[in-house]
Amino acid sequence: MDYGRDPIFPEGFLWGASSAAWQVEGGVAEGGRTPAIIDLNSKTKKPYADNSIAADHYHHWKEDVQLMAECGFTSYRFSLAWPRIIPTSDGKINPEGIQFYNDLIDELLAHNITPIVTLYHYDMPVWVDELGGWRDRRVIELFDHYVRVCFEAFGDRVKYWLSINEQNMQIVYGKWLGLDKGCADWEKDKWRINHIMNLCHAKAVIACHELVEGGKIGPVPGYVPIYPESCKPLDQIAAMNAEELTEKIWNDLYAFREYSGFVKQYWKLHDIDPDIRPGDMELIGQAKIDYFALNCYRSNVAKDCPKEESYLELALNKEGKKGQFVYPKFPGEYALAPNPYVETTDWDWEIDPVAMRYMLRYVWDHYRLPMMITENGLGAHEQVGPDGQVHDANRIAFLRDQIYQVGLAIEDGCEVIGYNPWSFTDLLSTGNGMAKRYGLVYINTTDEETLDLRRIPKDSFYWYSRLIRSNGRDW
Ligand code: BG6
Repeated sequence: MDYGRDPIFPEGFLWGASSAAWQVEGGVAEGGRTPAIIDLNSKTKKPYADNSIAADHYHHWKEDVQLMAECGFTSYRFSLAWPRIIPTSDGKINPEGIQFYNDLIDELLAHNITPIVTLYHYDMPVWVDELGGWRDRRVIELFDHYVRVCFEAFGDRVKYWLSINEQNMQIVYGKWLGLDKGCADWEKDKWRINHIMNLCHAKAVIACHELVEGGKIGPVPGYVPIYPESCKPLDQIAAMNAEELTEKIWNDLYAFREYSGFVKQYWKLHDIDPDIRPGDMELIGQAKIDYFALNCYRSNVAKDCPKEESYLELALNKEGKKGQFVYPKFPGEYALAPNPYVETTDWDWEIDPVAMRYMLRYVWDHYRLPMMITENGLGAHEQVGPDGQVHDANRIAFLRDQIYQVGLAIEDGCEVIGYNPWSFTDLLSTGNGMAKRYGLVYINTTDEETLDLRRIPKDSFYWYSRLIRSNGRDW
């Protein structure tokens, strides 16, 4: 539909931005925090960048919240670091970790900024990993203990909770994120790991409803809408296969609390045992989510890939030089292909604002649950200009187009309660450290050299501020 006028955002819409603990905090050996698996990755696995300082939010949190307030934020999405809260295997709570987040939450609330809190965003404590991490069912009780501590400590003030960030992407890109450690056959083992993660998600949902008065909790799928390459009927089925195998299997489980016929058939066909034990599905059955938090940056195109074709492994663009992404082929399921209708970033991510509207309509049509955007943004090479400012016109154009499509989806009848792009300040990218910047606020440091970590609001900060203050009218 063309509405013939700019979209209208509802009153009370949550306007903010996002971050994750390991990507923004630094202070990894301070305040009683112990190492996380991601700390080890970032030291050994190039091009991950060392996260021991990151954006140094651990020491700049007050200044950062002040900047959010100046921008006019009404929400801020961030994650809690499990190894800051439960640093050791005896399960003892670290009072300094609790204090850090208490101070942050209180400061946000003092500025009328609603905290939206992710329980898990890739920083599993090393002590949990040594017990087997997501591979071992003992993690279910350990995670349950951790989330209960969080709900009890912060649930009086935090009402919006998120369980596990991008569980689907952690499984789909498990090799890239190091989840395949200790797995003999990742393609089969990942479904067992995924089932354990589903049980952890369920524990978090149940505990939130038990312990947080008025608490709402949802999952955070990483969402990449997939279009068929052509109107050839088999391209449509390929797009549906890709959709199932990268996102729908997860979203169906969260929303309907049972595994879909598609995934059960997939397991049968590939001789996969996800190790579902008595009582598991009853637990999942109790985990009724309140909303979907959605991370969406780009779209993909899928085409038919007959069984006879050869498998081709996906290769991510790790340097920010266009043209390095390798479109994978999964014979008998689908192949990904370039989209001639959209531009791409330097990391070969499709710049496709319409995908945002597509995703919101798709998720609304399938699940009829409120939705919140918890990530969306442009990763770019950036420097401070000779005038001491950062002129990120590309980011303004990106955000404007994307937010406009959120507005159109709202006009289309979708219930969307907030928009929190990635990211507030520059922070470490999972793919390229500080070389790939997403922030509305520049952090003066690089992967090669730690500089003064000065905060410099970019042009996008001022543009976004005007948009927020007009509740989405001043484009
Ligand atoms: C999301 C993650 O997948 O994408 C974030 O939740 C991540 O942690 C973001 O930073 C952007 O990806 P990247 O690889 O550019 O950092």
